[in-house]
Amino acid sequence: MKTLLPCLLALLLVACASAPRQAVVKNDTLYQRLGGAAGVEAVVDASLRHVHGDLRINIFFESTDLADLRRLLIEQICAASGGPCSYSGRSMEEAHSGMNLTDQDFDFFVEDMIAAMTEVKVSAALQQEVLALFGPMRPQVVGQ
Ligand code: HEM
Repeated sequence: MKTLLPCLLALLLVACASAPRQAVVKNDTLYQRLGGAAGVEAVVDASLRHVHGDLRINIFFESTDLADLRRLLIEQICAASGGPCSYSGRSMEEAHSGMNLTDQDFDFFVEDMIAAMTEVKVSAALQQEVLALFGPMRPQVVGQ
């Protein structure tokens, strides 16, 4: 019994120490796992750089206020990934109205985002989570 008691106490300590850490990891939002505000900003800045240099689609952004677009994209990703922001921009239909974007334009945009996220070292698993936020918006963006 004398040796059993310290063992039991040690086991209890280990269990207590590990349980909350597991819970925290499980509850971390995508926003937190992307690195919070700095992480989201890095993704948006790299994405805008890639889109800007992409001859296939950069014509669409010719007369866009890029500082404004940057701010709205940061807000949008922050809000959609569980961060402490709310999106103050137009609906996706409104924002892309009159552009007549095709599925191919959308795919090019996604390709640029993937290249950007890879560049700023977002893991492949997290990239999938970010893309899962954008994929469902395709019908609101294409053909408007
Ligand atoms: C899911 C994919 C997309 C998301 C989440 C998205 C998001 C946004 C957001 C938040 C804005 C700003 C809205 C506002 O001004 O109130 C915006 C504007 C804009 N988007 Fe997208 N976008 C997507 C796809 C695309 C694609 C594929 C293109 C072109 C290839 C594009 C071109 C533009 C342009 C040119 C503007 C600026 C419009 C203006 O200057 O008035 N977007 N987008």
